[in-house]
Amino acid sequence: MLKNKNILVGITAGIAGYKICELIRMYKKAGANVRVVLTPNAQHLVSKLTLQTLSNNEVYIENFEINNYKPEHIALTEADIFVIAPATANSIGKIANGICDNLLLSTACAFANPMLIVPAMNTNMWNNPFVQENIKKLKTAGYHILEPADGFLACGTNGVGRMREPEDIFEKTVKILTGRLDGKKILITAGGTKEKIDPVRYISNSSSGKMGIALADNAYSMGADVTLISTFSVDRNYKNIVTPTALEMEKAVKENFAEQDCVIMASAVADYRVKNYSEQKIKKGVNEGKDDELTLKLVKNPDILKEICAERNASNSRSAGVRVKPIIAGFCAESENLIENAKIKIQNKGCDFLIANDISRKDIGFNSDENEVYILDKNLNIKHIEKDTKQNIAKRILEEIFEQV
Ligand SMILES: Cc1cc2nc3c(=O)[nH]c(=O)nc-3n(C[C@H](O)[C@H](O)[C@H](O)COP(=O)(O)O)c2cc1C
Repeated sequence: MLKNKNILVGITAGIAGYKICELIRMYKKAGANVRVVLTPNAQHLVSKLTLQTLSNNEVYIENFEINNYKPEHIALTEADIFVIAPATANSIGKIANGICDNLLLSTACAFANPMLIVPAMNTNMWNNPFVQENIKKLKTAGYHILEPADGFLACGTNGVGRMREPEDIFEKTVKILTGRLDGKKILITAGGTKEKIDPVRYISNSSSGKMGIALADNAYSMGADVTLISTFSVDRNYKNIVTPTALEMEKAVKENFAEQDCVIMASAVADYRVKNYSEQKIKKGVNEGKDDELTLKLVKNPDILKEICAERNASNSRSAGVRVKPIIAGFCAESENLIENAKIKIQNKGCDFLIANDISRKDIGFNSDENEVYILDKNLNIKHIEKDTKQNIAKRILEEIFEQV
């Protein structure tokens, strides 16, 4: 998987440093060339000799040891990726502010290829507003951040701050280096539901399903194992479950969602369905003079997104420390106060991402081949994706979401 890839591993002075020995072993087994750079403080927590033996390479610490004809911090940048794990609050702060007072930091500052930063620290340190500000700064600048998990910490407490496991870091490295979603299971819903009145009539909405299909097509071409649950049938090479109504969609989503890495609910599920479905076609003129009006009683449909988020959140709280799975994203179509309504909606639904689009505009959204969206995450960070084809927007959405998976 990583044959001939050059991976530079940076270790800072976090207690989780010992786990990086396993990560190096995994990189080597996958065919990568690994070099390791330590902060001087990290030497107290991991042994240089162990890292040297596992990486089968020199381990670098000092700024002023010139083994090549280039200064070490420049020579080390000739790698495909720089993975800093564990990343301490201290080193994160320095990287985010361009400080270069050791070899690892100077290398980080000069590094032009992708960088993956894997924070690990005590919960209070992680929640510290300055640490959060630094993380935000790095994210905005395009650094990949593999956020810590909630679990047991070396300081004897439970909370967010635990370094993600070597398997997760390995998987993330592969994803960054190959740009692929191989092995990832993703479920996407698409289309406006059709709430039946009688065998020939239904109530629906203007959703074309194009955005959901663009997401499914892109995820499939990026190597994911795709299941599309749509209100109409789609002729593709991935699995397609057709569910015209909200109740059918609810059943299919609930049967399939738990085994996924990611669920994206892009369908427009009707808020209401007809209460009394007529088995026979409703005829006019049966009762002479009494068919000028027809009253349909509607009942509320299930909120599928909210229900699966609640189920997911309940099962995750029972397994602390294990990463939250599946990642769940929803869509929201608003005709006014787009961002304000989207912020309320993401909190109400309990999902990880909400993709908001403005349906008051005629040039994008419903039935159009183009869209313009805002991606909100659960911390209410907002990313604007400017007007583009739904295919390109879909790719950007997947990249944003899978940054976290
Ligand atoms: C045993 C021990 C474990 C530590 N673990 C962490 C940690 O997990 N995360 C963190 O941010 N700091 C941790 N620290 C504090 C850092 O080591 C300290 O902030 C240090 O200055 C970081 O140096 P560096 O970023 O240059 O490697 C730990 C300190 C000790 C003594």
